[in-house]
Amino acid sequence: MDHRPHRPLFRFAAPSVAALLALTTACTGGTVQGRPGASGLRDPFFPKAGNGGYDVRHYDLDLAYRPDSGELHGTAVITARALQGLSSFNLDLTGLDVESVDVQGEGARFNRTGQELTIRPAEDLEKGQEFRTVVRYSGKPKVVTDPDGSEEGWIRTEGGGAVGVGEPTGSMAWFPGNHHPADKAAYDISLRVPKGYEAVSNGQLVSRAEQHGDQSGDSVFRWRSVEPMASYLATAAVGKYRISTATTSAGIPVYNAVVPELEAKSAEALGRIPEIVDWGSGRFGPYPFSAAGAIVEDEGALGYALETQTRPVYPGAPTVDLVVHELAHQWFGNSVSPKSWRDMWLNEGFATYAEWLWSEDHGGPTAEERFTAFEEGDTEVDPAADSEWWAFPPASPPGPEHISGAPVYYRGAMVLHRIRQEVGDKAFFDLVRGWAADHRHGNVSTADFTAYAEQKTGRDLDEVWKTWLHGKERPST
Ligand code: ARG
Ligand code: ZN
Repeated sequence: MDHRPHRPLFRFAAPSVAALLALTTACTGGTVQGRPGASGLRDPFFPKAGNGGYDVRHYDLDLAYRPDSGELHGTAVITARALQGLSSFNLDLTGLDVESVDVQGEGARFNRTGQELTIRPAEDLEKGQEFRTVVRYSGKPKVVTDPDGSEEGWIRTEGGGAVGVGEPTGSMAWFPGNHHPADKAAYDISLRVPKGYEAVSNGQLVSRAEQHGDQSGDSVFRWRSVEPMASYLATAAVGKYRISTATTSAGIPVYNAVVPELEAKSAEALGRIPEIVDWGSGRFGPYPFSAAGAIVEDEGALGYALETQTRPVYPGAPTVDLVVHELAHQWFGNSVSPKSWRDMWLNEGFATYAEWLWSEDHGGPTAEERFTAFEEGDTEVDPAADSEWWAFPPASPPGPEHISGAPVYYRGAMVLHRIRQEVGDKAFFDLVRGWAADHRHGNVSTADFTAYAEQKTGRDLDEVWKTWLHGKERPST
């Protein structure tokens, strides 16, 4: 039985449509109890990642980090809409201590098993209801080791700082959430750090203030991401960075944070960010976000570069090609995001192909030459051409440890080039721009892409899919 008090629906003389709808729900809903939300989204590779039963609209993360102890104190305010009646629901969180959870302003019971934080609100939530969850937590955030052996989560860096990154699953080490790319949301991330440290996150810097009132001398940085973001693309970086800013010709503000030792070595590639964003806008359509930039950490601080939204993180001074790759992800991966971790080639194939296009447009080898180099294993044209790009088809990595494998990148790029060979440049670039525009800030699968490509070009591309996208054998042309 549902013991919720009924809403005072008859307070108004003439009930609105909304009130009438609420009345219908209340009458039928009275007998329907909320049920537990699913503890995972059944991703083929990470079945427990994300949670069912609700859709997050906004994360408000208020974080304080102490570099000397490595302690993080956080308050996460998560605004979500219930997709079903909910008696309980889950967030993903690994490590850290949860101090309290409130739902709709009332204390909620919670328990933890593995990465699942299960929350039981005092009252069931109704389908369609928007609700607020507040999680207070603290502790030393963990380093998460991926199935492929790379380290992410919360990484402490030389010089006392730290950086949070998480592709695929590290973000649950520093904030509770619906940690699957299928649930994107807007973010406000506020970072409090001791005096002398900079704190950088995604989106735009709304304010930076020194705390004088409490004598701490701490600095508080407030960052805002208005466009939807998958949680693996969230970042928080604390360090003694050098900051530089610029603006693209379309007026997008660029904010770069670089560890002091790499300032000179990074200057060339970072200086070209406005040009690269402008170039990408020409090739792929309007830049999908209202900010851009970079975070450069020491070499070896991280195992990989990551296209964290608006502001990629680089381990060491990046090359221009790497900046092109990570910025191309802003269109492909960040705006047009995968529905599942198996669809990674839609991220990496496009970002790799963007590098080929950049090269073609800037006097380097053409995409056709790169494609041939990969076919022939010619490492003079592309040093990566000897990697095992044929080990598995790009659309079906054999397991979670392979989602960032060479075939996902290089065979992924080759699929796109094969389409271009079939349909010609005009139809191909219309397809690429149409894909970015029609799925802007959305989620897509491989099947969505193949259907879209055929519909947009009016061509049967079955042979390309069969041989290049799904074929287990090394294709012969
Ligand atoms: N998406 C990143 C890039 O292409 C690489 C992330 C690799 N993640 C991993 N767990 N290996 O720049
Ligand atoms: Zn990539």
